[in-house]
Amino acid sequence: MLEPSIVKDEDVEQLIKDVYQSYGYDFSLYSRASFKRRINRICLIDKFTSFAELRYTVLNDPDYLKHFIEEITVNVTEMFRDPYFFKALRDNILPQLGTYPLIRIWVAGCSTGEEAYSMAILLKEANLYHKSLIYATDINPSVLETARAGVFPLQQMKLYSENYILSGGKKDFSDYYTANYDSARFDKSLQQKLILSTHNLVSDSSFNSFQLIICRNVLIYFDRLLQERVFQLFDDSLENLGYLALGSKETLRFSNLSKYYHQADDQKIWKKLDLH
Ligand SMILES: C[S@@+](CC[C@H](N)C(=O)[O-])C[C@H]1O[C@@H](n2cnc3c(N)ncnc32)[C@H](O)[C@@H]1O
Repeated sequence: MLEPSIVKDEDVEQLIKDVYQSYGYDFSLYSRASFKRRINRICLIDKFTSFAELRYTVLNDPDYLKHFIEEITVNVTEMFRDPYFFKALRDNILPQLGTYPLIRIWVAGCSTGEEAYSMAILLKEANLYHKSLIYATDINPSVLETARAGVFPLQQMKLYSENYILSGGKKDFSDYYTANYDSARFDKSLQQKLILSTHNLVSDSSFNSFQLIICRNVLIYFDRLLQERVFQLFDDSLENLGYLALGSKETLRFSNLSKYYHQADDQKIWKKLDLH
């Protein structure tokens, strides 16, 4: 088996080039440290005995490529992740959005959809769901299949229910799903306003204008240059006075665009000023 440390920096560069040239996925501006860690992990899990073997498999087996993309893009997520972020949305942002006749929200890098379902629950409880659309996108088609099914492991429900209560939820969280053996099937009504689609933040352009863009725990995997490009994409996609929400380890502070925004609260939510 390939020792993790055997994957050299130049191997990583080679693989990034190969994947781009053969399949069009551009990982060239992903943070190298994180990318290399993921490649090492793939070698370990899939028991490659040499870098050449990994490279050959990626280049010649499209099914393996699917798995490779899944492993490279970290998909960890949970419902009401960082509950105080959702509390801030509930208490401070949704009342503002409620003044619009139609609320368009983009959840970028939605992974298996837990964040989008959490958003649907918030909107329902704020009585805004009927006039909302949630666009949830990800680079990885497999995670979107899970999001579409709306079925999540039952064992997660204890944590999700605790998160929901900390986010200010007052209902019984189990009202939102039906338990069946080891899975929880979320209420179909939570999908009614949910539009799931693949979208690559690196190469795809803006596709609508939104009052709220949520992109959490995605930019940490990108280098500064790519982060800046994605901020520009979000800026192009956000209406004046719209909100941009980032993850707990992410910030708009160092971006050239920060002067057009002000931080709405201490929960990584920025409001676009009417200056552009
Ligand atoms: C760690 S998950 C974050 C999920 C969710 N936003 C959250 O905070 O719980 C990161 C997601 O970003 C997605 N991603 C990575 N690169 C992307 C890209 N270039 N375009 C769109 N999504 C991407 C991954 O597939 C993954 O589902």
